[in-house]
Amino acid sequence: MSRAPLRIATLAGDGIGPEVTHSAVAALRTVCDRYDIPLEIEALPYGAAWYLATGQAMPSGEPQRLMRSFDALLLGALGDPRIRDHEHVRQIRHSLFVQLDLYANLRPAQQLLPALSPLASVQAGRARVDIAVISENLEGFHPDRDRRVRVTDDEDAHVTEEWHTPHLVSRLIRFAFAWARLRGRRRVTLVDKTNLVPAHRLWRHAFHTVAVDYPDIAHDVRLVDTVAHDLVRAPERLDVLVTTNLFGEILSDLTAGLVGGLGLAASANMHPGRCSLFEPVHGSAPDLVGTGRANPLAAIRAASLLLDTCGHRAAAAMVDAAVMASLNAQVTTPDLGGRATTGAVTDYVVRHLRTSHLLPDQV
Ligand code: NAI
Ligand code: MG
Repeated sequence: MSRAPLRIATLAGDGIGPEVTHSAVAALRTVCDRYDIPLEIEALPYGAAWYLATGQAMPSGEPQRLMRSFDALLLGALGDPRIRDHEHVRQIRHSLFVQLDLYANLRPAQQLLPALSPLASVQAGRARVDIAVISENLEGFHPDRDRRVRVTDDEDAHVTEEWHTPHLVSRLIRFAFAWARLRGRRRVTLVDKTNLVPAHRLWRHAFHTVAVDYPDIAHDVRLVDTVAHDLVRAPERLDVLVTTNLFGEILSDLTAGLVGGLGLAASANMHPGRCSLFEPVHGSAPDLVGTGRANPLAAIRAASLLLDTCGHRAAAAMVDAAVMASLNAQVTTPDLGGRATTGAVTDYVVRHLRTSHLLPDQV
């Protein structure tokens, strides 16, 4: 039976973005070849150089074209010291997120090797980390809703508003429960700061309403500060966390830190059933460009999330197994304590994908 093609647009971007995207595409090509998944890839030119040359971050109408033409987008990283106000980053991300309605940000943190965790409890096998942070991608703190308010004759207060609308909050919470059910997860925890931020009460109301439809999944509500504490003291008690944009950004860096750091952390910006955007959590790391020290595994894991979301679960599991093999063999970049280059890690993963046994389609 011939399979439908998987159509992907890559946006390699700036700094180490092209290096790690190259690695992720090599892994994708290899695993799709093994599974007879026809793969169509278009490389998009956007990023700092394109912005400096054209004065535009992306042509208008491009997000709609991408949505129509592709199953998924794979982004490397954006950010360039020549563009100090990050205008191209803001414009590209904002237009893709808003126009593709990528409302859910998913950041899974799985403990691959206990030795990569800084926690003694994990290293000793007393605790396990398998936490997914799911956060709202379209509202919360808005850089655009920023103003000064005169408070005394010579001083302005600086005000940034936090926005939460009921239907966006409910939609995200429903996504979190549905994702948890699909993945066989046991508990969803709402993380908020209701005691300081009255607008967060809306999250609690939506959470309790949606939870009724998921009696098979335990649920509870926690304040963000106690969750931060427990992430370090008892991470095994936490499972799926659903939260605001700001708390999600902070907690997901913490969960990434618990399992090996930015070199392994992947992120999905999703709208179920539509073209979604996958990327490593890390930025463009200008300090690493061309040094061979950029860890490609975060981008490769983003490619695995992409495959998984697009319904190719066995292929995704095979990529995860190849990443695991490189960690076990200690073929890793210096951020994970190894001495391998970006290219050597990529070659190892690709070789593993070429030679390992095919996994059954239903995994
Ligand atoms: P960064 O994530 O680029 O770097 C933070 C630290 O982690 C640096 O020490 C870097 O060397 C290291 N690092 C990052 N990726 C790595 C990898 N794959 N392997 C090994 N080490 C890695 O964050 P930073 O320095 O705050 O920002 C640099 C630029 O990236 C800025 O322009 C920023 O705006 C942008 N940025 C873009 C993001 C994106 O496109 N999603 C996310 C975060 C930052
Ligand atoms: Mg971040």
